[in-house]
Amino acid sequence: MGLLIRHGEIVTASERFVGDVYCDGGKIAAVGPGLEKRSSSDEVIDAAGAFVFPGGVDPHTHMELPFMGTEASDDFETGTAAAVAGGTTTIIDLACPGRGQSLLEGLELWLKKAEKAVSDYALHMAVTWFGDKTAAEIAECVQRRGITSFKSFMAYKGAIGVDDDELLEIMAATRDAGGLTMLHCEHGDIVASLQKKLISEGKTEPRYHPVSRPSFVEGEATGRATALARVVGQRLYVVHMTCRESLEAVTQARLRGQEVYAETCPQYLLLDDSVYEKPDFEAAAYVMSPPIRPSGHQEALWGGIRAGIFDTVGTDHCPFFQKGQKEMGRADFTKIPNGAAGVENRLQLLYTYGVCAGRMDMNRFVSLVATRPAQIFGLYPRKGSIVPGADADLVVYDPSGEGVVSAATHHHRCDRSIFEGFKVKGKVARTVAGGKVVFADGKLDVRRGAGRFVKRPAR
Ligand code: URP
Ligand code: ZN
Ligand code: ZN
Repeated sequence: MGLLIRHGEIVTASERFVGDVYCDGGKIAAVGPGLEKRSSSDEVIDAAGAFVFPGGVDPHTHMELPFMGTEASDDFETGTAAAVAGGTTTIIDLACPGRGQSLLEGLELWLKKAEKAVSDYALHMAVTWFGDKTAAEIAECVQRRGITSFKSFMAYKGAIGVDDDELLEIMAATRDAGGLTMLHCEHGDIVASLQKKLISEGKTEPRYHPVSRPSFVEGEATGRATALARVVGQRLYVVHMTCRESLEAVTQARLRGQEVYAETCPQYLLLDDSVYEKPDFEAAAYVMSPPIRPSGHQEALWGGIRAGIFDTVGTDHCPFFQKGQKEMGRADFTKIPNGAAGVENRLQLLYTYGVCAGRMDMNRFVSLVATRPAQIFGLYPRKGSIVPGADADLVVYDPSGEGVVSAATHHHRCDRSIFEGFKVKGKVARTVAGGKVVFADGKLDVRRGAGRFVKRPAR
């Protein structure tokens, strides 16, 4: 049975026109005006008055990540279901083997966890140490396992973080394999030292989390990351950028001619550090790294979007329940599991506070949430595009809808939303994944295990 989506305003990263999309066998078969049903059993969606754009590609999620003594509360099933409800049809999650663990063993573990995904997914590989076999395993990932991006953490000293010596080795091995280096940029030693000082002074509440990781600590690490990449001659993708200093570091590197990609997330565009003043340990819901920044940085980030410095908006979706998980850090903010939910909210928030607020046009919106993530990570044109032969992953977005984000109604497996009370414009009327309607009229119609692992080709 085919699917015909009619009379919608089709938006890609470069085009915008009223037309139809015909899907068959899980793929887009035709795009254009005046398309007809090819079989009497074809399903027809009337998208008049709505946008039709490619399913979102979230380049940064952490489903069921073991982290800081607990595990992210969305698994691949609940997390991809929430994604689909928000118009994201592909996530790129992080396989995260620990220090001393083989990358390939870690990969097998993550592929097993991900089998329950309801929509398609790809994986980045975390490189949390450099051993005798790491270079060969990176090459194996690129050449045969469909994994071409490798992420390391300059923060989280003593856990999954790496120091500069290791990073140079990891970057060189990734360069030789033809992979892309991704980095979480914060100066791990400074953070550890500030945390120790604050705790020793009895400053144990969540409000001290951002004090332990000021923006210059991120800016310094971002600059250092670009310097390391420059020395090695390696391509770099900087994840979850939050501040002016990082934007400057990336811009400097680009002006030197380096290939550096930049990602930010809705929470850094839309929240400021007043969230850490919330009473009754509610501030713990906002404990993530890097932290939410003082006001001023948000407009700099929007400026970075306007200036084309940001390639992507991801979510860094990594939820933890307040009850039983965030509470682990009641007596010590350094023990609060870092992260928050967001995979369901990305498109609606960016549409509302980006497009409707006049900060970007629809093409740029599609580029940030779908097309550029797909291009940078080797999923394009299968994902992030509306062309014949691409996967039939589409969103029908009704601009006349509106709503309010709330933990009471979201699909995330989490008891808090960091966007609680945010008004949103437009709504995902339908999500189509692989030619099948998986979300319509506020209801999910998904199947555990329907998602496929999307292998990415070596360059
Ligand atoms: O606080 C965060 N960001 N948690 C998830 C892990 C990471 O650093 O991306
Ligand atoms: Zn990170
Ligand atoms: Zn992350």
